[in-house]
Amino acid sequence: MTKKLKILVVAGDGIGPEVTGEAVRVLKSVAELGGYDFQFQERPIGGVAIKAHGSPLPVETLDVALASDAVLLGAVGSNEFNALPPDQRPEAGLLKLRNALGGFANLRPAFAWPSLSSNSPLRPEVVEGADILFVRELLGGLYFGQPRQWDKEANAAWNTMRYTRDEVARVARVAFELAVKRRKKVTSVDKANVLEVSQLWRATVTEIAKQYPGVALEHQYVDACAMHLMNTPRNFDVVLTENLFGDILSDEAAVITGSLGMLPSATIGGAVNLYEPVHGSAPDIAGKSIANPLGAILTAAMLLRYSAGLEDDANAIEAAVRKVLNEGYRTADLGRGVASAKVLSTREMGGRVHAALNELIDRRQAMHAV
Ligand code: IPM
Ligand code: MN
Repeated sequence: MTKKLKILVVAGDGIGPEVTGEAVRVLKSVAELGGYDFQFQERPIGGVAIKAHGSPLPVETLDVALASDAVLLGAVGSNEFNALPPDQRPEAGLLKLRNALGGFANLRPAFAWPSLSSNSPLRPEVVEGADILFVRELLGGLYFGQPRQWDKEANAAWNTMRYTRDEVARVARVAFELAVKRRKKVTSVDKANVLEVSQLWRATVTEIAKQYPGVALEHQYVDACAMHLMNTPRNFDVVLTENLFGDILSDEAAVITGSLGMLPSATIGGAVNLYEPVHGSAPDIAGKSIANPLGAILTAAMLLRYSAGLEDDANAIEAAVRKVLNEGYRTADLGRGVASAKVLSTREMGGRVHAALNELIDRRQAMHAV
């Protein structure tokens, strides 16, 4: 257990600052109630960093990130930069940061919160009980493979999907270790009927699986997986996949939870863990205080779990979110299907979670005192 943490907050673009503000408020309150020493610093990333410093990842931001115990990110991306090539866009700042921090296993839980089952466009009986943990490889594949280019003269462009055996093995081990503590099933997702890189992926995952005889391994092609996720989401436990497939499937899985705004993530395995909600900068609703802060708040819970081993506090945050949802509180994205929904602003939703959390921690402390 670590009770002292240096946390870098890179709130970024769009709704990033609004939702991150609520996550930080929750973390500060956990620190105060638990007597922990959390130090927060803030630095720019993404579009705001391009504007202020001419780079989506200023050197200073990276230096502070590398000297931190954990990095909490809001979102990057802004329509202003749509005409720029990938390596100059806000997103490039995030990709550089991921690469520099070294975390290769991006954990993205997609959990069907019981009180949100009518919020999903899928039938409640399909989504109820679904509890999936995506383990998305984050440092390889098309995102980072070389060569990559848009050759304007040839009127052609290419990217490279490349993995080494060791890159696959290390993320597979993370998936199996997590499956041991869950329902003991790993679904590895690839396109091994077409791609050599997927054949390497499948062979490597099969080899690593031998070290985990208690965990069932199944392989699915990514196209079939996309369908099964909607048809039978309850059949999945841990889903292990490469970078781009994981990006796509985790957005799809948001449908199970009711909203992309509910999904947190943690990236582990490197020098410094990186925590970011799965949703993006949502420029259309930025600055209106209607964004859902729960993805960011649940991301803060993951930070406590994976960077500090503060499991009780992480659980308390998740329990507080559950309580607020059970009481019928919603943000605008969660309004569907609940006639009596009490629709809150970003700040009000953060405040509700904050109050529920304080109550839960108070009660826990009172119990420990007797
Ligand atoms: C995500 C995002 C990022 C990704 C973008 C912003 C680079 O979509 O975290 O899912 O593609 O990884
Ligand atoms: Mn994405």
